[in-house]
Amino acid sequence: MLSYVTTNQGKVREARAYLDGVEAVEFDYTEIQAGELGPVAARGAREAYGHVEGPVIVDDAGLFVDALDGFPGPYSSYVEETVGVDRAGELARSAAEADGDATARASFRCVIAYCDGEDFAATPEPVDRGERRGQDLGADERAAASTDDTVDAGRPRDVPVKLFEGVVPGRIVPPRGEGGFGYDPIFEHDGTTFAELSPAEKTAVSHRGRALEKFAEWFAER
Ligand code: IMP
Repeated sequence: MLSYVTTNQGKVREARAYLDGVEAVEFDYTEIQAGELGPVAARGAREAYGHVEGPVIVDDAGLFVDALDGFPGPYSSYVEETVGVDRAGELARSAAEADGDATARASFRCVIAYCDGEDFAATPEPVDRGERRGQDLGADERAAASTDDTVDAGRPRDVPVKLFEGVVPGRIVPPRGEGGFGYDPIFEHDGTTFAELSPAEKTAVSHRGRALEKFAEWFAER
């Protein structure tokens, strides 16, 4: 049984379009602060796997505004909680305007991280193997490392995590629509904001849908 670990029910509704029978598990794993989505999702997947003790996916997403050099990106949650979606949208549009750009171009990115405790064969999608190094270990841990097969030359092996990324281009507009969540009302793709779409319509074109599609295809083979 595959578990989608999140506290965001909006994500689960969207995932069901691709993953029949996925179980939603509400668990608030640690979201580390990092400059990229991949390591945040990988860290979350490891923690979620430890909690569920079975195959899990988590996803980490963000809004990347061109005129703000990709900000808020991995900091999107923080910006939503502090500045709020509407003001973040105004900031994005005025930054584009200051650049002489009538369109505030942006993209949504989503990284799905899968973990089941096993290793993965090489495919185009990357595997995150963690970053703990020997020098992070105390003397006792280093001694244990020499007899423990979960460690490699003083370097504990993190559980591998497979990553699947989806990206959708769009532009930032004044808020429209009542559906979706987060930045959906200010993100327009093909003339419609994501908040104007049903979950199924959004998933058919969204960053999460694109990442889920890649994942679902790979998972069916596993
Ligand atoms: P996280 O992936 O749950 O960490 O979300 C990061 C931030 O992006 C939060 O502020 C979410 O509300 C927002 N977010 C994530 N996915 C979406 C989406 O599909 N649409 C709109 N906002 C999103």
